[in-house]
Amino acid sequence: MRKDAKIYIAGHRGMVGSALVRKLKAEGFNNLLLETRQKMDLTQQQVVADFFQRERPDYVFLAAARVGGIVANQNHPAGFMYENLMIQNNIIHQSYVSGVKKLLFLGSSCIYPKHAPQPIKEEYLLTGALEPTNEAYALAKIAGLKLCEAYTKENGCNFISVMPTNLYGPGDNYDPENSHVLPALLRKFHEAKQNGNTKVTIWGSGEPKREFLHVDDLAEACFF
Ligand SMILES: NC(=O)c1ccc[n+]([C@@H]2O[C@H](COP(=O)([O-])OP(=O)(O)OC[C@H]3O[C@@H](n4cnc5c(N)ncnc54)[C@H](OP(=O)(O)O)[C@@H]3O)[C@@H](O)[C@H]2O)c1
Repeated sequence: MRKDAKIYIAGHRGMVGSALVRKLKAEGFNNLLLETRQKMDLTQQQVVADFFQRERPDYVFLAAARVGGIVANQNHPAGFMYENLMIQNNIIHQSYVSGVKKLLFLGSSCIYPKHAPQPIKEEYLLTGALEPTNEAYALAKIAGLKLCEAYTKENGCNFISVMPTNLYGPGDNYDPENSHVLPALLRKFHEAKQNGNTKVTIWGSGEPKREFLHVDDLAEACFF
């Protein structure tokens, strides 16, 4: 990538998108395309098409998505599936139409089967049932990964995907309903200490094993 390359970061105000912006700026890339949701709702096909025709980015980081924890995913499967399919279809297709040199799609490790052997290998994809609580979200992400592969195979595009594990870091979401496990735990312990409580209730059996990655380490990997 040339230092003056035009790079579009979709979702630049999110935890991952803002880490990508920090990393790219630190590496001397300053021709960054950043549009807020208020100016461009990425679920809207024509709006996204007009943006790509007008701006013609060289590279795209696709970090915009509807993201949430277990409760949000359980309560809003339609919203998670529909919005993520729309956002990624619009951006991936318009990246093809406008001749983007390379696109990186942000997926999630929840695309792998619930009972996949550990550590998870890429070839375990589509070998078993998904975790039911985030199935709708995971199916959208699998569609995104496969769409990138399909455009690469059929049209010679250079569209690749990463499937990060649970992330944490600056810009995380601490909402009691929408947050992921680590910010939710931090909030619970912080508030318990503030309120002088002697007990904290944590969801689940305590048995699951979780893996965490700092978002700046993810940004480093995406940049690489
Ligand atoms: N966080 C994790 O632990 C984790 C783990 C694995 C993979 N990932 C993946 O990484 C990506 C980014 O996640 P994140 O944690 O950075 O999420 P986030 O903090 O919620 O950021 C998502 C971004 O997408 C934007 N967005 C959502 N819907 C939009 C729409 N209709 N139009 C325009 N912009 C829209 C949001 O805009 P606003 O700022 O306006 O809300 C926000 O900037 C996702 O694809 C996610 O699957 C995240």
